[in-house]
Amino acid sequence: MLSISVKEFLFWKKKQLSKGGDEQAFAVLLDCMCGLSTSDINLLNINPEGNLYLNKNLEYLESVWEDHLFKFHPIQYLCGIAFWRNLKLKVTNKVLIPRPETELIIDIVFKIFGNKSQKLFFAELGTGSGAVSIALTLAYPLWEGLATDIDEDVLEIANENYINSSKHSNLRFYCGDWWTPLENFKGKLDLVISNPPYIPKDAYERLPMEVKNFEPKIALLGGEDGLKHIREIIQKAPFFLKEKGWLILENHFDQGEKVKQLLLKNKFTSIEIVNDLSGIGRFTIGRYK
Ligand SMILES: C[S@@+](CC[C@H](N)C(=O)[O-])C[C@H]1O[C@@H](n2cnc3c(N)ncnc32)[C@H](O)[C@@H]1O
Repeated sequence: MLSISVKEFLFWKKKQLSKGGDEQAFAVLLDCMCGLSTSDINLLNINPEGNLYLNKNLEYLESVWEDHLFKFHPIQYLCGIAFWRNLKLKVTNKVLIPRPETELIIDIVFKIFGNKSQKLFFAELGTGSGAVSIALTLAYPLWEGLATDIDEDVLEIANENYINSSKHSNLRFYCGDWWTPLENFKGKLDLVISNPPYIPKDAYERLPMEVKNFEPKIALLGGEDGLKHIREIIQKAPFFLKEKGWLILENHFDQGEKVKQLLLKNKFTSIEIVNDLSGIGRFTIGRYK
């Protein structure tokens, strides 16, 4: 344990942030390496007297921070955790770091399904860290969920995150290509959610280094036009959804209209393009007939 005065620590923190990066990334570093939450730091700022005990020395923390800043290594991978809504999730470079914009999927669900005492059966295709499915099963303890992914290692992490976040057992994990592992649930789903890989090939090549060099390509690339996976998910959705069941998709910033047309072609109704917080049509939703 390293003892350091709070003033010295706050000075050191300011110096690290002056090199670049943002407060949020630094908060991830302090939380995972030193167990200091954002509210702990706020308290230190209010009362900077006394000493602090750290289980990692400042040189080590600085080296991790510089790895993040200068080698573009995502802080979540360096620390092995990501914060998403009110969840603290384990992440490795096998899983996509869950994005803040995806948090809105949960709000879309809240808007559609206001009644939390209703039982419902949902599936998430391509669960990654498990963020969306875990948040839903926590918010709706009566719901039953199926979370799928093509990668066994990813599902292992999602399952670990579920066990660490929930006392319930209302989420099951299945491995396989999109709908394939759900053959037994045809016509039974009230809601299907997916944030599939949707980046078009040319946009993928131009992604920032911290994404392209570190995050799994399989989680990002959506084929030549970005719609390869979305097309497959929409085309087969009618076999799996109940009548009037909902499909909620996240898409690339400019795909809303095309996804809407795909939904129309496959007999979906109540179609809506939902904006994210930057006013971008990030989600497309619809009901099967
Ligand atoms: C954009 S990530 C979304 C992860 C997570 N749901 C989230 O929102 O953070 C897409 C996920 O789909 C999975 N995936 C890619 N191709 C797949 C396929 N053919 N079948 C099932 N899952 C697939 C990837 O492994 C990845 O975890």
